[in-house]
Amino acid sequence: MKNKSYNKLMIVLRTLLLSIFLIVESSACNIPLAEQFRQIGYVEICNEKHGTETFDCLYSCFDEFIHFLQTNPVCEQKLYAAKERFIRSSDRQYYSTNFFGFYDESKRAGRNQVSFYYSIHLHEFLNFHYPEFNEIPEITRFLSLCYEVQQPYGNIFDQAANELGLETIFTSNYDHPPILLKVVKYLPSYKATHPHYDGTAFSLFLDSTDNQSLLLAPYKSSFKVEDFTCPVRTFSRRYNQNSILLIPGILLTEFAIYPTPHIVTQSGNTRYATIAFAMRPHFVPQKNELSPLPNFIIE
Ligand SMILES: [Fe+2]
Repeated sequence: MKNKSYNKLMIVLRTLLLSIFLIVESSACNIPLAEQFRQIGYVEICNEKHGTETFDCLYSCFDEFIHFLQTNPVCEQKLYAAKERFIRSSDRQYYSTNFFGFYDESKRAGRNQVSFYYSIHLHEFLNFHYPEFNEIPEITRFLSLCYEVQQPYGNIFDQAANELGLETIFTSNYDHPPILLKVVKYLPSYKATHPHYDGTAFSLFLDSTDNQSLLLAPYKSSFKVEDFTCPVRTFSRRYNQNSILLIPGILLTEFAIYPTPHIVTQSGNTRYATIAFAMRPHFVPQKNELSPLPNFIIE
């Protein structure tokens, strides 16, 4: 009995000490990153891992992948069925979302875009349950490149969480945060309507063939169209280097980290982009009242 009370006391003391440590840690580390998010909405990082060499190759493989699926509707259906099966599997819980796989909105007025949401677990699921996809070079090439591209960015998400004093947000049985890699192609007919918040912990804008089209604004209580501006880049997009932007999404509001709304404006040209999303494992988002976002369509 005495032992039990002693153990309980030790647990309480340990928890208390850990909380004090975390508070001290977060107040020391929180200021720079949290303050940058608050003031400008993003942090720019110089990416020396991937530049235009990698991304141009990714987009050309994406074009081949799109063309293959658009001309092989049976295969596209099978990929869709595979995604539906995947989101009923237990690995889906790790990502806390149903956004996976291929979304062809090329013919949907206003949207006019095609995107693919890649995750390692979806890739493994396809390899295991749909080996016939391995026979199709357009599919294997694109998925392998997605695997390579998303690989280094778990560390950036871990570091950002640590700097904010939120090291536990990615805790799971896996040793890396759940990452979704989105590759998107906007067609010339794409039209921008409203900015949006990302349903993520963090989003990392890895690359775009047109950085001028991305506008964002730091979070505040109300927004006007004029609040949205194009971030000035310190680093350039080159063969083996890139400028990447880290922003918070909507899954950190319980820690008073508010999301950065953003919009891709229309340019009348084809635009490709790649974004890495950090999700929260086994997470049920709370209902949040976020500031409404303005309409960009001039009537
Ligand atoms: Fe977004």
